[in-house]
Amino acid sequence: MPESPRREDPTAGGAPAPDRRARARALREAAAAAGAPDRWCEDLYREAASEPELIFWADQVPNPNLTARWENWSRDLPPHVDVLVTGAGYGDDAGWLADRGARVTAFDVSPSAVAAAAERFPDRSIRWLTGDLFAPGLRPTTGFQLVVEIYTIQVLHPDRRAAALAPLAALVAPGGELWIIARGRDEEDDPGELPWPLLRAELTPLTELGLVERSFEDYLDDETPALRRFVVRYRRPEAPT
Ligand SMILES: C[S@@+](CC[C@H](N)C(=O)[O-])C[C@H]1O[C@@H](n2cnc3c(N)ncnc32)[C@H](O)[C@@H]1O
Repeated sequence: MPESPRREDPTAGGAPAPDRRARARALREAAAAAGAPDRWCEDLYREAASEPELIFWADQVPNPNLTARWENWSRDLPPHVDVLVTGAGYGDDAGWLADRGARVTAFDVSPSAVAAAAERFPDRSIRWLTGDLFAPGLRPTTGFQLVVEIYTIQVLHPDRRAAALAPLAALVAPGGELWIIARGRDEEDDPGELPWPLLRAELTPLTELGLVERSFEDYLDDETPALRRFVVRYRRPEAPT
C-alpha cells in the first residue's frame, strides 16, 4: 500500500478534502448505474495505487473508538477470541486485534484492499479474504465469537443497508458479540453523501435477527470539528441446551 497522509474522519462533514471524496462518490454513482453497486470500492483502491489520498478513510492506525473499548469489552470474550473484521480496508484494525491475541479473519469486497492489507501485516497470522458482506460465504458452522464492523454499513447506500443486516447478524456465533462503529445522525439531519451517517433505526432490525443490544453509545468525539458517533455492542444469546 502506498504511503498516505493521515486521514480525515471517513464520515466527517465540513470542509476537508472535498476532492478526495468526490472521486469515491463519482465511482460509486457510476458503479450503481451499471448495476454493480460495490464495484466502486475496487475501482477506488486500484486508483489509489498511484493516488493514495483517494482512500480518505485510511489513516494507517487502528480505530480509536475500538481501541478505547477493547480492554473492558474483551473481558467478556474468550482468550484468543475468534474475530471477524468486516470491510477491513487496509487492515489496521485486524492487525491491532491480532496483536492482542485474537484469531483474526478479515475480509473486504476489494481484492486490492485485501492484497494491500496482507502486505502491510505479513507477520500476523490473519486470514485475509476477499468477500462481500451481502454474501460473505465465510460463516463457520458456529459463527464468530466477535464481529467488528467499522464504517462498512456507512458506505452502503441507505437503500441497501437493510439487506446487509441479516448476513451480518448471521456471522455472530451463539454467545458471540457484534461491535459496530459508525457516524450517527437523526432523522431530521441532512443525510449527506457517501459515507452516509446511520440512523439508529437502521440498526434496530439487528435485534429482530436474534441479537441483544448491550449498549448503544451516541456521542460527539474529540475530533475537530466533533463528529457524532454511534458505538453499539450486541450479543447473541447462547443457544438453549
Ligand atoms: C469506509 S471504508 C472502512 C474501512 C475500514 N473498516 C476502516 O475503518 O478503515 C469501507 C470499507 O468497506 C468495504 N466494503 C464496501 N462494501 C462492501 C461489501 N459489500 N462487502 C465487504 N466490504 C465492503 C470497502 O471496500 C471499504 O474498504
